[in-house]
Amino acid sequence: MTLIFAHRGYSAKYPENTMKAFKEAEKAGADGIELDVQFTKDGKIVVIHDDKVDRTTNGTGFVKDYTFDELRKLDAGYQHKILLKKEPIPSIKEVLEWLKTNQLQCNIEIKSSLESYMKIEAPLIGLIREYGLSERIIISSFNHYSIVYCHRIAPEIEIAPLYAEGLFMPWIYSESIKAKGMHPNHKVAPNEIIKAAEEYGIQVRPYTVNKEKDMRRLFEIGCSAFITDDPVKALKMRKQY
Ligand code: G3P
Ligand code: CA
Repeated sequence: MTLIFAHRGYSAKYPENTMKAFKEAEKAGADGIELDVQFTKDGKIVVIHDDKVDRTTNGTGFVKDYTFDELRKLDAGYQHKILLKKEPIPSIKEVLEWLKTNQLQCNIEIKSSLESYMKIEAPLIGLIREYGLSERIIISSFNHYSIVYCHRIAPEIEIAPLYAEGLFMPWIYSESIKAKGMHPNHKVAPNEIIKAAEEYGIQVRPYTVNKEKDMRRLFEIGCSAFITDDPVKALKMRKQY
């Protein structure tokens, strides 16, 4: 069965990377969630996509220039009329605590600013271990050095390279960095590549798959999983397969 990961939570309907979006993805029946992490000025790990808070919150400036307490005052749901109350930027701790109450898988993407690489990995892994969630987490990043470093610290936690171009025979590459999966942009993952990788034993989880025709292709070839903003649409379609 092709698993469905809700990209930044159920972000087609709720504010991305908030507890509300994650909880709604679980309610909808998604198999997993995807989220992005970054480091604050005072070394806390928070869940937010951009290096600046401007697009998704009512604040301005770089995440790395805010302390955790300052960031928590911002509203990550202020553009969503669907919400009646404020949605803070979650800490990764809050998400891990909540994951203990369900069975979801969680793909944590290390986003972070360049200067945070080699700093964010160990504390992140420390928290994953503290909550006993190593078996349900996949750590991914476009920075492949970062996930190789994660694997060095925590070989028990799965890693997966993210890529949008430039990988030749990505399944061999993934094996070479000890990844059991790979996360390509779906536009650079034709059926031949997905089949070759899956036959080789590398699980493919393309992102970000939102159109029905693209979902259908992945269900039809039995891709391991995909990452989508709209888990409700994907789950409805999956019933046909
Ligand atoms: O993890 C897949 C996807 O989230 C990568 O792109 O920009 O949405 O973080 P982006
Ligand atoms: Ca992401």
